[in-house]
Formats: sequence, C-alpha cells, structure tokens
Amino acid sequence: MQKITIIVGSQWGDEGKGKIVDILSESVDVVVRASGGANAGHTISVGDKQYVFHLIPSGILHESVTCIIGNGCVIHLPTLLDEIHILREAGIDIRGRLLISDRAHLVMPYHLLADQKQEEMREKKIGTTCRGIGPAYEDKVSRSGIRCGEILSDFSAFAEKFCQNAKNRMKRHNFSLDLENELVLLKDLAEEFSGMIIDTNEFVWDQQRKKKSILIEGAQGSILDIDFGSYPFVTSSNTSAAGACSGSGIPPRKIDSVLGVLKAYTTRVGEGPFPSELFDETGTFLQEKGHEFGATTGRPRRCGWFDAVVALYSAEMNGVDHWNLTKLDVLTGLSVIKVVTGYKKDGEKIQGFPADSAMLSDIELEYVEFPGWEEDISFCRHFADLPENAQKYCKAIEKLTRVPLHSIGVGPGREDLIMR
Ligand code: GDP
Ligand code: IMO
Ligand code: MG
Repeated sequence: MQKITIIVGSQWGDEGKGKIVDILSESVDVVVRASGGANAGHTISVGDKQYVFHLIPSGILHESVTCIIGNGCVIHLPTLLDEIHILREAGIDIRGRLLISDRAHLVMPYHLLADQKQEEMREKKIGTTCRGIGPAYEDKVSRSGIRCGEILSDFSAFAEKFCQNAKNRMKRHNFSLDLENELVLLKDLAEEFSGMIIDTNEFVWDQQRKKKSILIEGAQGSILDIDFGSYPFVTSSNTSAAGACSGSGIPPRKIDSVLGVLKAYTTRVGEGPFPSELFDETGTFLQEKGHEFGATTGRPRRCGWFDAVVALYSAEMNGVDHWNLTKLDVLTGLSVIKVVTGYKKDGEKIQGFPADSAMLSDIELEYVEFPGWEEDISFCRHFADLPENAQKYCKAIEKLTRVPLHSIGVGPGREDLIMR
C-alpha cells in the first residue's frame, strides 16, 4: 500500500531524525528533504561507520531510494558537493538517485558572511550555525533570492543577479568578496550539478500517481519553526509538518501519517529559552552519555529533562500520529527521572507554549518523577524486554502527550530500535 509519511523533529532539533529516516527508507521509494539547509546534521550509524548528512536526504544509503532536496530547502552547492564526494569515497553511487529542486534557493558565499556579521552585531545572540540560512531565506522572502534553476538557464543573467546581490550585502555588512573568482567556482558547480537540478514537484507528483511510498524528512525541530517556535530564537524556515508539505510539493491531503521524532530528554544548541535545562551533574551526565555535541558545529548541546509541554505543543502543531522516542538508553543509570508537565509564572499557570519567549524566563516548573533503572537496555529488542521502570516511563510519555509510541531507540545503530 502507498504511504506518504512526514518525519518531523519535535523539540529543538537533533532528536535522531537521520536514524529513523534511514531505517524506514529500507521500504520506501522516495525520500524528500523539505526545509532548511546545511544547518542540519543528520547522523546515521551503520556498523562502525558513521555518516553525517547536512543536505543529502537520509535515505541515500539505500540503493533503491531516490532522494530529493525539495523546493523548501536552501542549498550551499560546495557543501553538497563535499557530501557527494564523501559518499563516493565510501562506494555509494548517487548518480540518478539525487535530485535537486529547481525552485530551491541557493546559499551564496555572501549569505555565509552576512550570517556571521549579523550574529556579531546582535545584542541578543541567536547562536546560528553560521551556514547562511537566515540571509538566504531573507532573500527568498524579499523576492531577490536566486533559485537553483537559474544557475543552469542563462549564466550571464545569473552572474548579473549574483553580483548585484553580493554588492548589496557587501555594502550592508561591510565585507568584501572576489566576485570574479566566486563566479568561476559557481560556473564549475553549475556544470557539476546540471543533471540533478530538475522540477522535482513534477517528479514527486508522478511518483505519487504511481503509488510509490514517500518519506518527507524534516530538518531542525518544531520549536525552531519560524512561526511556532521560540521566536526569535528559531531558524528561518517552517520546520513543522506544514513546512514539510510546502517544502516538498506534496499536498497536505495526500499525507497518510506524521511521525514525530522525540528525544527521551531535551537538548538545544544555540541561545534562547529552555525551561527544563539542567545546570547540574545530571545535565553533564546527559551530555556526556548522550554525546550531545552538535553534528554540524560541534558545539556542546544544552541538556535538560523531557518537557511534556513542548511535546504536547509539538503533537498539536504537527498532528503527530505516533512518536519515535529516541535515546531512551541514555537515561539508564539515573535513580530518578523527571518530566516537566507545566509552567507557572508569578504563581499563574501558563497555558500552552507561549508566543513570547520572555514569558519563559523566571518560570516555575511543575514536574512528575519516575524511578529510573540500572539495567543496560541497549540490547533490548522488544518492549517486554525493557525493565519495568523503562516501560512505565514510555507509557507515561504516551499518556502525557496523548500520542502513542511507534518505536523506541536504545542506541545509535540501525538494529537499536524497539517497535512498540
Ligand atoms: P538529527 O539531526 O535529528 O538527525 O539528530 P543528530 O544526528 O544531530 O543527533 C542524534 C544523535 O543521537 C546521533 O549521534 C545519533 O547517532 C544518535 N542516536 C539516534 N538515536 C539514538 C538512540 O536511540 N540512542 C542513542 N544512544 N543514540 C542515538
Ligand atoms: P537538525 O536538522 C539543532 C539552531 C541553531 C540556532 C538556530 C538558528 O540537525 O536537527 P540557523 O543556523 O538555522 O539560522 O540557526 O537553530 N539549529 C539547529 N539546532 N539541530 C538542527 O538541525 C539545527 N538547525 C538549526 O543552533 O539555535
Ligand atoms: Mg542534527
């Protein structure tokens, strides 16, 4: 039966989307990345090999899967080329299997520099990945951006637009670039990618008519969504399920299910509110045991307890049908596991997840506590194999979020997954 599924990050990113997309890709035909750019870092562990994809969809390791970088993405072609080379060196052939939307916008060298400059100038830092994401989406929305298709059609018109945009940015942010040299590099890139850039929407619609199975791979997390997230400490795209449709070309009515990826605790890279953040030895325990360092920038990830307010909000905004709960194994060894169930400010309960990020400072947290477990769960392959307290924790997450679990991660490998 045909199935079209959205995989969406449900917290602040790095929930483990890459792993589940890779596992589910075993039985799908097409994987489409719908948003973001090289700010993402999606990790897949296969045996002793580890792959980190920034732009390439996480289905690429399966030979029968066609991978698409959709129209909602912003693409830095040199980064994409590096990823293709790494795959080639690993013996993975992407020819004919990697397609790029001609409507996706290009991340240019001046976007990277502008991102750095903007971040330096900000009084309240966002802690961006400095991958040019914000400035590239800025150009897209202000209708001056350059799309992938343009690099192929008329190079002199492309070059003119490139120089105009670059000059505007250089003036605005006070930096310089050797434009002639950049254009030589871009011309080479245009040749390199000429066979891959197509109208991917037509391709996807055709696959849908042929009843092919499709996964839409989200990037970042729902609380980094430009509309729903902890604004302004967010990324510049719609990372939620709505963005998965607009960024992939697949109409909302064709979606069969939404799978939310949810870490068994919470992490966040960069600045901004994080109600359940831990500054004590438990935070350090989660960071060290969970290897919580950014897959893109290497920055340490801030760590905290599972936040059911965030998960409920994410379930609502995305229409999550099931969760893929990840990294349950990291909690092994904690005597008590806490879960945030509500926020209070000045003694008053905050309803839902507030729009105003300032509301999230100096808040009181409501918790429930669960007893932990000591047993190594990384070898468990069935729900019934898990220690009773781990089972109770999983069931509590289902109850608190009103969404059932689809699967539970007990390690980074493909085999480290329990189907609920
Ligand atoms: P993504 O951006 O959502 O794809 O997540 P990242 O790749 O940035 O970070 C998730 C990290 O956790 C990666 O290093 C994964 O290999 C790892 N991981 C994923 N699922 C599990 C799990 O269930 N247990 C453990 N221990 N590690 C996991
Ligand atoms: P994946 O797909 C975690 C965060 C940055 C910063 C904010 C804005 O691997 O889950 P940007 O560079 O997008 O303008 O930065 O968003 N951020 C992520 N955090 N995982 C990601 O992607 C992220 N992509 C962006 O740290 O706080
Ligand atoms: Mg990541």
